[in-house]
Amino acid sequence: MTAFNEVERILSERRSTRAFLQTPVARATVEELLDAAARAPSGTNMQPWRCHVLAGDRRRALSQALVAAHAEGPGAAELDYYPAPAFEPYLSRRRTLGRALYGLLGIERGDHAAMHAQHARNLVFFDAPVGLIFTIDRRLKVGSWLDYGMFLQSFMLAARARGLATCAQAAFAPYHAVIRQHIPATQSEIVVCGMSLGYADDSAPENRLTTDREPARRFATFLGFD
Ligand SMILES: Cc1cc2nc3c(=O)[nH]c(=O)nc-3n(C[C@H](O)[C@H](O)[C@H](O)COP(=O)(O)O)c2cc1C
Repeated sequence: MTAFNEVERILSERRSTRAFLQTPVARATVEELLDAAARAPSGTNMQPWRCHVLAGDRRRALSQALVAAHAEGPGAAELDYYPAPAFEPYLSRRRTLGRALYGLLGIERGDHAAMHAQHARNLVFFDAPVGLIFTIDRRLKVGSWLDYGMFLQSFMLAARARGLATCAQAAFAPYHAVIRQHIPATQSEIVVCGMSLGYADDSAPENRLTTDREPARRFATFLGFD
């Protein structure tokens, strides 16, 4: 994508980061990013987002419990993120991503132990100093989930604009029962996703991953133009 302005430059620079430096991020910074992201639009300004920010011992304790739960089994998310079975063209896109990521990490196809270990890296927030868990009131409807996505992307862009890196992570959602023991979220909330926040470790091979996008002419229909 050619960047014509600052917003487009940040849009094109944001990418999912899967290895972080230990460099801490101050609470005030995270709060400012959340305030910025909360400028996202939402239907009738309902602002459906709820966020739990963990650092230090609290982040480590959550990760430890999650890794233990992951070793026990896959868990069960309360939201259906992905269709099962997967179908085209989405299946091929998922496979392309998986191959690219595992290729960079030197994980061979069919090496389930290595893939399982890489998946567990999600649950330690890829060693990021700050982990975020996003929840939503379960009574809210699909429109609020749409609003939520805008908020998440706004947060990631605001972080990128400050030189910080992020990875949105659905991988947390299946472990909502464990997560609830570590954050003040009740059964009235659904865990939407987690997110790692920190400074990218540029020496890590997984952070060399770049992803393609279909061009607009392939997914958009233009009508009524000259
Ligand atoms: C809501 C959401 C959940 C995601 N969950 C995960 C995840 O659990 N683990 C992971 O490594 N990446 C996850 N991703 C990152 C996607 O794989 C990534 O956005 C996609 O491959 C495009 O790459 P890019 O973000 O670098 O542009 C998630 C992204 C989104 C938006």
